[in-house]
Amino acid sequence: MALLEIVHFPAPVLRKKTKLIIDFSDPKLAPLISDMAETMYDAPGVGLAANQIGLSLRLAVIDVDWKEEEGQKNLRVFINPILLEKSEDISFEEGCLSLPSLTAQTKRFNKVTVQYQDLKGTKKTLSAEGLLAVALQHETDHLDGKLYIDRLSSLKKELLIKKFKKLKEERKSSG
Ligand code: NI
Repeated sequence: MALLEIVHFPAPVLRKKTKLIIDFSDPKLAPLISDMAETMYDAPGVGLAANQIGLSLRLAVIDVDWKEEEGQKNLRVFINPILLEKSEDISFEEGCLSLPSLTAQTKRFNKVTVQYQDLKGTKKTLSAEGLLAVALQHETDHLDGKLYIDRLSSLKKELLIKKFKKLKEERKSSG
């Protein structure tokens, strides 16, 4: 198990549509998922897409139930996820490990149905709502080369990018 480096905005890999995983017999797949999960918990975050660690693969890990104090984990792995249905508008305070220290209100759907494959390649369907539904939209966006800031008005997006650049400069100058 190893911690992986999380790629930050504006890395080009975050803007590329990821490739479908076809080879489910690849022995590197399970260790990759473990490393992604470890990296997500360490960050900490509720989700991580493969292109956030620099791999253009249609794979994401999510855990919306994790409570560090209780040590209780509920890791969900989504290989080749596609959103089939979306309903009920909600507004959500969203952040992203590739844009650290920032959040913004986004418009999302409260309910989604996702089709995906598990580690064995078996096709599955899951209906989710609330935080899990939002996390699924956030991660499938990542896998399509989109970021939550793309869901904001162009003015808000610009402000957030400015803030991000400023934070980055501050981090640099403080060593
Ligand atoms: Ni993200």
